[in-house]
Amino acid sequence: MSSRPTRQARMGTHFMSPRWNAAGWRLYKGDQDPVMDFEHYRAMAPLAERARFDFVLQSDILALHDLEPDSFARSVNRWPEPVTLASALAVITSNIGFVVTMSTTFQEPFHVARMIASLDHLSKGRASWNVVTSNDYPDGPSFRLDQRPKPEQRPEQSLEFVNVVKALWDSWDDDAIVFDRENGIYADRSKVHEINHNGTWHTVQGPLNVSRPPQGHPVILTAGGSADFRERASKMADVLFTAFDTIDDGVRFTADVRERAQKNGRQPDDVLVMPTFAAIIGETETDAQAKWKDFQRIAPHHARFRGTNIEKAGRIGSYRQIADQIEQWWEAGAVDGFVYVPLELPVDLQLWADLMAPELQRRGVLPTHYEGSTLRENLGLPRPAVDRSGKLSLA
Ligand SMILES: Cc1cc2nc3c(=O)[nH]c(=O)nc-3n(C[C@H](O)[C@H](O)[C@H](O)COP(=O)(O)O)c2cc1C
Repeated sequence: MSSRPTRQARMGTHFMSPRWNAAGWRLYKGDQDPVMDFEHYRAMAPLAERARFDFVLQSDILALHDLEPDSFARSVNRWPEPVTLASALAVITSNIGFVVTMSTTFQEPFHVARMIASLDHLSKGRASWNVVTSNDYPDGPSFRLDQRPKPEQRPEQSLEFVNVVKALWDSWDDDAIVFDRENGIYADRSKVHEINHNGTWHTVQGPLNVSRPPQGHPVILTAGGSADFRERASKMADVLFTAFDTIDDGVRFTADVRERAQKNGRQPDDVLVMPTFAAIIGETETDAQAKWKDFQRIAPHHARFRGTNIEKAGRIGSYRQIADQIEQWWEAGAVDGFVYVPLELPVDLQLWADLMAPELQRRGVLPTHYEGSTLRENLGLPRPAVDRSGKLSLA
């Protein structure tokens, strides 16, 4: 019998239904389209906290996926901009983290550093950035492209981008704000530093105009899967958001990432692997099968739900059956946790909060409460010290 991982599983989720698949919105039971209605999110955030999710991840792209009239009529990727939504949700929650997606191709490092640092301050250490390069989507046409990296250049450029963002976060020492009212000293200039980065893609003097975030570096998540991606991610990311089909694939992927992290001078456990987890979950197996039938009635050609072949992967079942799978994957060391994709919101979050989370907690797979006060602490990740070595290295 293999020993259990010492760290309990980590869990994230999404609030993006009803546009998660070509037909998901048709399962929504409310009267009106909820996508731009804050009340929809206001109802889900406390549910996600009760379900002890570590974070909510807002995926994003900077264009409409598909303008072909028939498919556009069926579904369209329209949702609130992630930082705006996370800022609002931070006000009505106190423990859950917010992972917001921003592209290294169409943003400037200064803007990203400032927005994520601000979100981290205002949420008291619950911000995270999902680093994407916008390679798979038609994000280009609405932007000036003359100085942008070409798709094949983007992986390397994004590494420089992330390093610049981290350097900007480190441009303030943790104790640079003095706030000495008696002597009239607000901040200590000697503790705030230019970064003077002059690289292949970015020239940034700094310092940032926001003090160092509570987490030091807000959690860096990045999405992808290839060997190049793993190499890059193991240098700069805290969480790899990915997808694979079998436990064996997961064991190989995770071992590879940990090895690369170590080779790149990091502790192997400082990098978490959290694949997407699409599943149709019911109180009983019969309930789950009925949900799947419902989905197939409105989307007859969809054997896959968010990239997962649901039947082949055995991802239709009672919460206990699905909990067995989660436990198995986690015990085998194939994953550090998952990012759960609900089929129908908010009911699937309700089910997770009422049944799945308590079941996983009973088994010792999930923590029973939020152990830390920041997202980093809840994920079991160390807070980075200020690094002013000047090594904004691409190596
Ligand atoms: C699970 C997952 C989620 C992703 N989410 C986004 C996203 O929200 N926005 C985006 O622009 N790209 C997203 N991507 C695409 C990645 O950022 C990346 O461009 C792609 O996976 C290619 O990387 P790779 O083939 O080197 O692994 C996602 C990829 C994966 C695997």
